Amino acid sequence: MSQASHTDSPNVTHGATTGATPGASVNATTPYGTLPPASPVASRKPISLPRLHDMRARGEKITMLTAYDATFAAVADAAGVECILVGDSLGMVCQGLASTVGVTLETMRYHVESVVRGLQRVQGTAWVIGDLPFGSYHASREQALHSASVLMQAGAHMVKLEGGGWTNDTVRFLVERGIPVCAHLGLTPQTVHALGGYRVQGRDDAGAQQLKQEALALQDAGATLLVLEMVPAALSIEVTQALPRCHTIGIGAGNGTAGQVLVMHDMLGINLGKNPKFVRNFMQGQASVLDAMTHYVKCVKDGSFPDNAQHAW
Ligand code: KIV
Repeated sequence: MSQASHTDSPNVTHGATTGATPGASVNATTPYGTLPPASPVASRKPISLPRLHDMRARGEKITMLTAYDATFAAVADAAGVECILVGDSLGMVCQGLASTVGVTLETMRYHVESVVRGLQRVQGTAWVIGDLPFGSYHASREQALHSASVLMQAGAHMVKLEGGGWTNDTVRFLVERGIPVCAHLGLTPQTVHALGGYRVQGRDDAGAQQLKQEALALQDAGATLLVLEMVPAALSIEVTQALPRCHTIGIGAGNGTAGQVLVMHDMLGINLGKNPKFVRNFMQGQASVLDAMTHYVKCVKDGSFPDNAQHAW
């Protein structure tokens, strides 16, 4: 499936043109530099849940990257990334924290707003997911609704939360109130201390069974996306096939999921620490960040990333 397949005009690819006239090239220069090429408004429709469902039905892989600021979000959008996750991984890659546990709701609001403004500047069409940080949805469904409202009012289209079982009621409560929810199972970084480190999850039969049951319950509760992090490739395929209404987005979960996500800094090769096995440096051989992200989109769409032999368990 080509990168341009979710545009209406096969002649117009992301990042090639801007403004209301498809095919016309417009340079948006500012005193601080040239803005990334804008989406061709007339030829690209905003990504929505029905469009993500259609992609899944067609067998087209969904692409997701994290972004935390206006410019990188605009570049990711121009590269054709459908979903931008304003992840609490920003605690580690932007704030220099040792884990995501210290990230606050106010910090998440600031970064969601920045990303959304960046997309608005370039008439971006990406679907924006705001990550609910540690402690912002744990106390009660009402607390979760308050926190989710902060991120939705900052411009997010969907919120993400981590964990299964105890989160079902919260997911249902948010979805019933019109807030789309992305769930997150497997290695859930907010609980890294309880999990004993950044380890592959669901390796034994009991763990795999539990993960599958939790995934089914999250779909029943109304979650429409599910991040599967550091889960064996075979288990991700089983989960993906069991969830027709909730689309799996893998990170270290093999190539059988409905889509893929990477932390932007990792895929640009600028991680401060050791790169996890599931990461590929997409900057290699590319001349720009836009080219690297465009290549990521292409590789996810054509199934060449991730390569299970190298990037999965
Ligand atoms: O916060 C984040 O960036 C995430 C991704 C690793 C999926 O949750």
